[in-house]
Amino acid sequence: MSSLIEARDLHAWYGSSHILHGIDFSLHCGETLGLLGKNGMGKSTLIRTLLGHVRQRSGAITVQGRDLSRGRPHEAARLGIAYVPEGRGIFPNLTVRENLLMAARPGRDGRRAWTWERILATFPRLTERLGHLGGQLSGGEQQMLSIGRALMTNPEAIVLDEATEGLAPLIVDEIWRVIAQIRATGLATLVVDRDYRRVAAQSDRLLVLQKGRAVLSGDAGALRDAPELRHFLGL
Ligand SMILES: Nc1ncnc2c1ncn2[C@@H]1O[C@H](COP(=O)(O)OP(=O)(O)OP(=O)(O)O)[C@@H](O)[C@H]1O
Ligand SMILES: [Mg+2]
Repeated sequence: MSSLIEARDLHAWYGSSHILHGIDFSLHCGETLGLLGKNGMGKSTLIRTLLGHVRQRSGAITVQGRDLSRGRPHEAARLGIAYVPEGRGIFPNLTVRENLLMAARPGRDGRRAWTWERILATFPRLTERLGHLGGQLSGGEQQMLSIGRALMTNPEAIVLDEATEGLAPLIVDEIWRVIAQIRATGLATLVVDRDYRRVAAQSDRLLVLQKGRAVLSGDAGALRDAPELRHFLGL
């Protein structure tokens, strides 16, 4: 299986705080990887380090086979890794339509799997609000817009950090439906969410962090009911 993102012996620091302690990581083409761990264990830091947002780091990172050990965020983006950060990345003063269209671009090899029509079909709620400003949307709609913007880039992989945090149950269900749809298209996905059962159900593989170390990884179906998983999640 070919790797989209690969990292070896990854360390990261915020100032003098040593946060990641030698993580090996891979995200393969077409797979969904669920990243789990209690609060503050380093999930977002791992993502941010892989994508070049944390500058104080060591270890080897490759994206699509290119060495991005010293890479910057735009380089990972240009290689097709779309990132939906915690807390969403939308433009509040632009309309939904503008937010989506400004993100649009063909994928590598000129592919346009995610056409405008397909995006609208995937997000009926956004379709009803194309003329609204991003900032006028509910939290759930903003999250969908953020995911929609990521898909408009026709990525090779999508990274979703806390995709459903703080959202009402109905909209959470809708976002998981979208994640399942994305997964069904074969787009490689890295997903972080508090609901470990749903993460496990929607993932091929799980990776669990504890205090900046990878303490458990393997097939999601095999791990979902494993006592070690519940142990590391403090359940
Ligand atoms: N910008 C920062 N500066 C200093 N320390 C930070 C910063 N961001 C995170 N940390 C610390 O790094 C550690 C890992 O945080 P991180 O946000 O990666 O965890 P997480 O697993 O994503 O947690 P959560 O489930 O709360 O999102 C925590 O101890 C946190 O306090
Ligand atoms: Mg986090």
